[in-house]
This record gives sequence, C-alpha cells and structure tokens, in this order.
Amino acid sequence: MERLQKIIAEYGYTSRRKAEELIKHKRVLVNGKVITELGTKVNYNDVISIDGVIINKDVKHEYYILNKPRSVISAVSDDAGRITVVDLINTDARIYPVGRLDYDTTGLIILTNDGDFANTLMHPKFEIEKTYIAKLNKILTKEEIHKIKSGIKVDGREVDVKKFKVKNINKEKNTMIVEITIVEGRNHIIKKLFKELNMNVLKLSRIGYGFLDIKDLKSGEYRTLTIKEIKKLYNLAKK
Ligand code: URA
Repeated sequence: MERLQKIIAEYGYTSRRKAEELIKHKRVLVNGKVITELGTKVNYNDVISIDGVIINKDVKHEYYILNKPRSVISAVSDDAGRITVVDLINTDARIYPVGRLDYDTTGLIILTNDGDFANTLMHPKFEIEKTYIAKLNKILTKEEIHKIKSGIKVDGREVDVKKFKVKNINKEKNTMIVEITIVEGRNHIIKKLFKELNMNVLKLSRIGYGFLDIKDLKSGEYRTLTIKEIKKLYNLAKK
C-alpha cells in the first residue's frame, strides 16, 4: 500500500505536488470512487483514473541513459523555457530524470517513467557509486587530499568518498583534474565538498553510475538501457 499521490507520481502522470492538487479538486477516482483524502493509501492493483482516464493500465516502462550536455536542466519542464533532459529524448512516455545534475554539469543521467525503479535507485540507503571528473581552480595539497579521503563534513554530514584519483595537474594554470567516487546524491554535493577547502569546481562531469559509464555516448546522445542493465541496477540497489 502506498499514498495515492505517490503512486500517481510513480506512474509518471505528474509530480506528487500536482497529484495532491488533483486529489483536492476531486479529479481522482480509485476503483470508481472519488478520493479527496490526501493520505489515502492504495494498492498497485487498484484502478486509478484522473479526469475519467485510467492511468495505470498498460503503462509501458521506458529506461534511458543520456550523456547530458552543459546548459540543459535536469527536470521535466522549465518555467524559464530552458532545454530539459526530457526534451533531448524522443519519446511520448512521461519520463523524468533519476536524480539531478546541475545545469552546468555534464554526463551520465538515467531517465525513466518507472517510479518504483527511480525511487529504488534514489533511496539514500542504496549506496550506488557515482563517479565524477572535476576540474578545480587550485591544486590540492597532500593534506587536503587526505582530508577528502577521510571524510569532509558538508552541511554537518560527512561525505563518504569511496575513490579519489588525481588525473592531471596544470602548474602553469594552477588547476587540477580529479576523479572522485561517492555514493550519495545530495544536490551540489561535489561543489560543496570542494568549497569546504575554499576551491571552486570549474567543470564537472559524471562518468559513472554503478557499473554504467558513458564511453559509448557523445554529448547529447542517449540509448535505452538493456533489460540486463535494468535488472543489474535493481540488484545493485537492493543488495
Ligand atoms: N555534485 C554537484 O555539485 N553537481 C552535480 O551536478 C552533481 C554532483
């Protein structure tokens, strides 16, 4: 059993907040009965209709991996009219991104209309490794690298750094490129982590998500995930 607004969002019909509005306006029926209570719990087998249209019948799930370019927003729509990750994918399905990458961050992002899958991957208890390449505006000292590896606190909570590698040092420009693997998904977490050391991230790209990478995808390209990959991601999350 799940809250009705959560299930509506999981089916990819709309956001949880908008689903609450629909419920309040008596536009949602469960098994033919109008529901107005926001907390109402329903079953995945219950027939949910909105404005007379059943939303959870024959929903075909779709799963994509995209190499997000810069200046694209990780959202379904944008009030300011900016291009979204959903705009880059040729489908009529109501897909949405699993987690976020900043507007200026490039790289690997998963999109789906399978709410259960998305929630599973995003749940903080499932520590899926995310690997980033970051260009920094300073060269880290050995001590600072040690600090990062042993866990720096961001907003009062330590960031568990699973792997850290220096990829390149440019002494003339005083910049450094590093590869960092973390398991959490807090917004702006990599930028905030380096901010703790008074550094700015000049460029950021996500190159890995669990066992997935984007070596086969150019900027803006995408492909569907295979059944094997989807199952493997589920297993990874539920381990
Ligand atoms: N951390 C950030 O700071 N930005 C991202 O886009 C992803 C992780």
